[in-house]
Amino acid sequence: MTLAAQLHDLAVDIAREAGELARRRRTEGVAIAATKSALADIVTDADREVEEMIRLRLGEERPGDGFLGEESGAAPVSHGGDSDVTWVIDPIDGTVNYAYGIPSYAVSVAAVAGGSDPEHWEALAGAVFNPASGELFHATRDGGAWLHDVRLTVTAEPAAAGALLATGFGYDPATHASDLARVGRAMTIARDIRRIGAASLDLAFVAAGRLDGYFERGLQPWDFAAGALLVTEAGGRFSRVEMPDAAARPLAVAAGPGVFERLLSLTTE
Ligand code: IPD
Repeated sequence: MTLAAQLHDLAVDIAREAGELARRRRTEGVAIAATKSALADIVTDADREVEEMIRLRLGEERPGDGFLGEESGAAPVSHGGDSDVTWVIDPIDGTVNYAYGIPSYAVSVAAVAGGSDPEHWEALAGAVFNPASGELFHATRDGGAWLHDVRLTVTAEPAAAGALLATGFGYDPATHASDLARVGRAMTIARDIRRIGAASLDLAFVAAGRLDGYFERGLQPWDFAAGALLVTEAGGRFSRVEMPDAAARPLAVAAGPGVFERLLSLTTE
């Protein structure tokens, strides 16, 4: 079994276990533990507990690996840390949906090689699990992207009515005006637009051909590590483009080949 295949199987197991814990905690009631970068940017007790569970599990299975998690940042999985593999984890992507009881949230687990900087890493394996729907999206480098045991392919061309797109908005209100202007430009090629509220699911849906394209400025590495691999393994394209606005983090664009260039050019104008 290749290293990527081993990492894949572990990512899938952990995403399922962590998702089950998140789902169980949801039924018990959600407590907001703190706000982070902005008032709208929340962390729940469950985010922290699920991330800790994942870290402990990885510590048992792969103690030498690195870890980059939404709630705890970058660190070795346990002591040491001498392997080239880093786990990039969003314990609950779509935390606001989770807190409001909207069943669109996911555990996102990715294993990458080459460090914790997305500019330099190579994603080897990833899993995105939505415990509310039971859908498990997973991919291995050069091994394809899958929803359970069904192989995924991005859309080749949007329908005549236009592309079904999705986007998201960062938590910083200062960037909302430019984000909305970008949506306006993208609508010129769209039949409609979705704001699902969990970047990992947006990317999984592009991989599955449920969306023709997705764009969002300001994603963090854990938001897209697994989802970007799903998209490229399903035959799509994923890019991050630096924006001239100093406050803004890069713009991520993901789409099938038929819409990618047009979407990239409209959203980076
Ligand atoms: C957020 C979600 C959301 C996206 C934000 C992300 P979180 O992740 O993916 O859809 O618009 O940019 O930060 O905070 O729920 O893990």
